[in-house]
Amino acid sequence: MYNAFMHIELQKAIELLKNDQVVAIPTETVYGLAASLFSETAIKKIFQLKNRPVENPLIVHVSNPDDATALMAEKPPQFDALTSRFWPGPLTLVVPSSSLVPEIARAGLPSVGIRVPSHPITKALLSQTGPLVAPSANLSGRPSSTTPVHVENDFGQDFPILDGGPCTQGLESTVLVYKNRHWTLGRYGFIPHEELETLLGYPLKENLSEKPVCPGQRFRHYSPNAKLILSKGPHWGPYVIGFEGRDYPNAKKIFYLGCLSKPDSISQNLYNILRQIDLEEIKEVSVDMNFEPFGVFCTIGERLEKAAVIS
Ligand code: TXA
Ligand code: MG
Repeated sequence: MYNAFMHIELQKAIELLKNDQVVAIPTETVYGLAASLFSETAIKKIFQLKNRPVENPLIVHVSNPDDATALMAEKPPQFDALTSRFWPGPLTLVVPSSSLVPEIARAGLPSVGIRVPSHPITKALLSQTGPLVAPSANLSGRPSSTTPVHVENDFGQDFPILDGGPCTQGLESTVLVYKNRHWTLGRYGFIPHEELETLLGYPLKENLSEKPVCPGQRFRHYSPNAKLILSKGPHWGPYVIGFEGRDYPNAKKIFYLGCLSKPDSISQNLYNILRQIDLEEIKEVSVDMNFEPFGVFCTIGERLEKAAVIS
């Protein structure tokens, strides 16, 4: 099963990307659907393939901070401090855009989201292709993909995938948006917001719900077909998404996210479990939400709450 997808080599990925094609690429967070920043044809294909609303902008991936500044109209305060601490890695910075970034990539906004990923294969790719846009490699609204098999399940056996193995982090990048002379939290992500606040020296305003600074926050997200019942117990349904070492009386089957003392393994597992319950055609599942919302658990909790929204 693991080898069924269309595995391509680095050189083939470079060739396809240079010829207006879309390729699935690994990152440390989740798999992305990549296109050249300068191919309007390929960027349009991304929106079609994902069935993504055109008003939801794409993140631009570059191989180093200098390539990022080349795409910016101005460098906001603390940009260098943020990037030297967190790049390469799971931090996206939304900054004033230069006219080099095509409007379609930024959904007509005056800003652009940029990050330098740390996955070695994608670093090698970017150094040859130049900037690539890449949203998460899932159909819009569905859980993100953290393995090539997830990508294949959403986009079919013939879809070209650059195989980088399972993503080590498993949650998307944290998004900071520079707005009104301050950084604002646009999306929770793998880097805990508390760490960013320590570096910035002020609390991050959340701008996630009523009028989100990231358009993507408005749409349904991360959702399996199964109905998720978020619960702190003590009553659980026959199917439970829960944690090792806990008791779920009467449960017929438990999908373990991992051990609460190992948050990284929980992050890495989350989307796989959300996809697994659909593969097993389970219609309804209780989710153990009995954890403190600090650090990466804040992001895990937010993802589960979003995944439970029924549109
Ligand atoms: O970890 C990640 O960030 C992954 C990997 C592939 O890099 N990518 C990812 O992309 O999660 P996507 O498209 O699924 O989510 C990007 C988020 C959306 O919520 C979008 O609205 C926001 O970033 N975003 C991108 N550009 C923006 C901009 N110019 N202004 C505000 N929000 C922006
Ligand atoms: Mg996404």
